[in-house]
Amino acid sequence: MSDGVPTPLLAATGSAEATRALAAAVASCCRPGDVVLLAGGLGAGKTTFAQGVGRALGIIEPVTSPTFTLVRQYEVGDGHGGVRTLLHADVYRLGHLQEVADLGLGELVEDGAVALVEWGDAAEPVLGRDALTVAVTAGAGDDDRSFVLSASGGSWAGRWAALAAGLAPWRAT
Ligand SMILES: Nc1ncnc2c1ncn2[C@@H]1O[C@H](COP(=O)(O)OP(=O)(O)OP(=O)(O)O)[C@@H](O)[C@H]1O
Ligand SMILES: [Mg+2]
Repeated sequence: MSDGVPTPLLAATGSAEATRALAAAVASCCRPGDVVLLAGGLGAGKTTFAQGVGRALGIIEPVTSPTFTLVRQYEVGDGHGGVRTLLHADVYRLGHLQEVADLGLGELVEDGAVALVEWGDAAEPVLGRDALTVAVTAGAGDDDRSFVLSASGGSWAGRWAALAAGLAPWRAT
């Protein structure tokens, strides 16, 4: 780590369920106001990751692809570090960054929310805050996925060691 920008963390999973468990470990490091950008191609596992976050936050409704609604909102019960709402967006169909800005995710997360944004890596400049980026890529086998977790700003620097420890079961080099 230098200048407050954490060194990216590498991880790998061999099943959708392992990806949900890895996502739950990430969720346990999240705080109200966080934006998590999910990057990766079609079918990489972005929504599967979101399901793991939803489960960790005690959300009972199935977390499904928000492709046609753009943003889904789930209420979070007590005992999740003050997170009251999970926002799950998919900006794949938005052609212009201005349309992403118009979703107002940056403002919505101020109200005790954590936002997960599929295809959100290109939208980072308009989201208006530090983000955790989780990039998913396919691996050698059908069910193998590789993850690179990176953060651009200072808000993650102070919890990077905790995140690294939480990801220990899936860490890769
Ligand atoms: N290790 C793994 N991690 C995540 N998903 C996996 C893994 N192995 C197999 N899968 C399967 O890959 C698929 C991932 O689909 P998912 O909807 O999560 O992808 P996505 O990145 O959200 O796609 P889209 O770009 O269409 O939104 C699921 O069918 C899941 O069961
Ligand atoms: Mg998806």
